[in-house]
Amino acid sequence: MSCHRKTVRQWTRGVVSASLTALVMMLAAAAYSQQSAPVQTSGQTLYEGLCASCHGPEGHGDGVVADDVLLRPRDFALNAFKFDTDADWETGTDADLANVIKYGPAAYGGSSRMPPWETLSGEDIASLVVYIRQLQQ
Ligand code: HEC
Repeated sequence: MSCHRKTVRQWTRGVVSASLTALVMMLAAAAYSQQSAPVQTSGQTLYEGLCASCHGPEGHGDGVVADDVLLRPRDFALNAFKFDTDADWETGTDADLANVIKYGPAAYGGSSRMPPWETLSGEDIASLVVYIRQLQQ
């Protein structure tokens, strides 16, 4: 009988610790989603301020100055990226987009119409890449 009680107690302890673990995970997930929301918002804000004039509000390469640009800015929705900036035989990876934004297409043999944004922080550039991925959908 005492043996049975011990098992029940162990079982109860197991349930309590499992629900504590679940609670901690839920709190962590909530904290994470709260953190990631402003990142996307700042990507959108940066995009609208710095990029939409050429790439268009929806990223279709149809911004107001697009007609003036000799080489049309890329339509992000087509997912046809040109530059392989880190020589991994793949164009349009997150690293490639970040490099093109930071150093400008001209640094990779492309158009100098798009200026480099070397003053943006790595975090700002990462949030822009996240926003471009959203525009691709
Ligand atoms: C003055 C116009 C202009 C502005 C402003 C501009 N771009 Fe561009 N962008 C271009 C042009 C033109 C190209 C095509 C370059 C080429 O093919 O040589 C391009 C290409 C790109 C590409 C495609 C790279 C690839 O591998 O094909 C990305 C990504 C990009 N721009 C992101 C941005 C972001 C993010 C911003 C804002 C921080 C921005 N651009 C601002 C004109 C602009």
